Amino acid sequence: MTVEGVGRVRKGDLQLTSVNPAQKSFRVCVVGSGYVGLTTGACLAFLGHRITCIDQNTCKIEAMKRGETGIFEPGLDKLLRLAAGNIAFTTSGETDLEQADVVILAVGTPSLPDGRVELSQVREAADKIGKNLTGDRFRVVAVKSTVPAGTGKMVKDLLRKASGRKGSTSFAVASNPEFLREGSAVQDMLYPDRIVIGVEERAAAETLAALYRPVLEQEFVPPPFCPRPGGYGFPALITSDITTAEMIKYAANAFLVTKIGFINEIAGLCDYTGADVTAVARAIGLDHRIGQHFLRAGIGWGGSCFGKDTAALLNMGSEFACDLPVLRGAVEVNRRQRLRAVEKLQHALKGVRGCTIGLLGLAFKPNTDDLRDAPALDIARRLLSMGARVKAYDPVTMNNCRTLYPDLEIEYAEDVISLAEGCDALVLVTEWEEFTHLPLASMAAVMNRRVLVDGRNALDPPEVQKEGFVYLGFGRGTGEKFEGDILVQREHK
Ligand code: UGA
Repeated sequence: MTVEGVGRVRKGDLQLTSVNPAQKSFRVCVVGSGYVGLTTGACLAFLGHRITCIDQNTCKIEAMKRGETGIFEPGLDKLLRLAAGNIAFTTSGETDLEQADVVILAVGTPSLPDGRVELSQVREAADKIGKNLTGDRFRVVAVKSTVPAGTGKMVKDLLRKASGRKGSTSFAVASNPEFLREGSAVQDMLYPDRIVIGVEERAAAETLAALYRPVLEQEFVPPPFCPRPGGYGFPALITSDITTAEMIKYAANAFLVTKIGFINEIAGLCDYTGADVTAVARAIGLDHRIGQHFLRAGIGWGGSCFGKDTAALLNMGSEFACDLPVLRGAVEVNRRQRLRAVEKLQHALKGVRGCTIGLLGLAFKPNTDDLRDAPALDIARRLLSMGARVKAYDPVTMNNCRTLYPDLEIEYAEDVISLAEGCDALVLVTEWEEFTHLPLASMAAVMNRRVLVDGRNALDPPEVQKEGFVYLGFGRGTGEKFEGDILVQREHK
């Protein structure tokens, strides 16, 4: 099946014929209560559906019953409180699975060392769901976990086998990838750019379009803590075959990675030529074909998704002997960026052995406590291995770091001033809001030497230099400065 509908649910697209138009509320089971499953469950419950979140982890389920999410995700706990009457948590859920209209599979799909995706949680979940696909009522099993092309077919086979059904008349498998960013997952779920539904049967697309109707039609009163963005219209609805939907998810992340890789490559050249990459990015981004987003140069990306998904895509390529040089290059550039921060320190301090370096931030990006593949960890490890003393301050994730990496010999500071105390250099690793207006004069006063590596190009170089710091950004321009007023007329968005 090719892409058959783009836009809101409207005449000519999906007619929602197989769904009772009066049915506003669906019974939904979300299998897997990680950050994607929990956010999806909470948002769908807020939109009026009856949700059961199923997870094998008893501690997690007990905590969620007490209203504790266990993750730092702005707005999620508030949303769960608002939707409390519509959401339940369980480790078993057999009856709920039996009665569900839609089952959303949102279990983890970690990477194997060779980049392949580990699908055992998907298999186990499919087996459990299949065993409970009793009765003749039609229901949809939607795979939200990020899975390689072809997994939808595997899930269908597993469901058939476990349910003992020969045909697939009473259930359909769909791919329904997520595009949630950590730190703004609730916002991304309620006000997405697009909803992608990959199916084999029209009835499955109609059921999922009806499930998402409140979002597609924006038929809900926004929660006070997550208002509808100004100028937001309606999300596009993209329907396709299952394999295409699976590929859309990987291609989206791979493209974002490529954009960041590209601007970091240009930043490297700017370091030599003296051009300012932030101005370059701003100017090229004003071309609507290029766009402003994901052109921030610096120490590069981390997190649980980009590394895993690019490895999976490269692995998929090699399975088909289909080389992906652009993506390979982008991943390689990213690996180098982390080391560049250390190289800049080495150069400025004439070697880092015996020096004390303070890391401003540990999380892979602001507004999350997630440390998975965080550049801070690689930078800290490298500095420690080179004989430096490493201190760190992060407003949210220091306890996580202590617990998860007990062997990492980082000294944790209580605030930015105590971080700066005795440091030869600071590295801004995570651009938390509070780091964009640092008390630089007070910090400079307690430092040994004053070098600041701005790993996110988040600070104003003259402001930093004014306090006696050597400022080192990524491609921030070392050449001639333009004196005088820069005339910026009107900017067309
Ligand atoms: C990413 C995608 O943005 C989501 O659409 C997707 O759903 C998600 O992965 C996923 O696959 O589940 P996320 O990893 O939460 O979301 O974070 P991003 O906001 O995309 O940032 C990723 C990394 O890129 C961060 O380390 C960030 O600092 C870095 N980044 C971002 C840059 O270095 N430069 C930029 O211009 C933008």
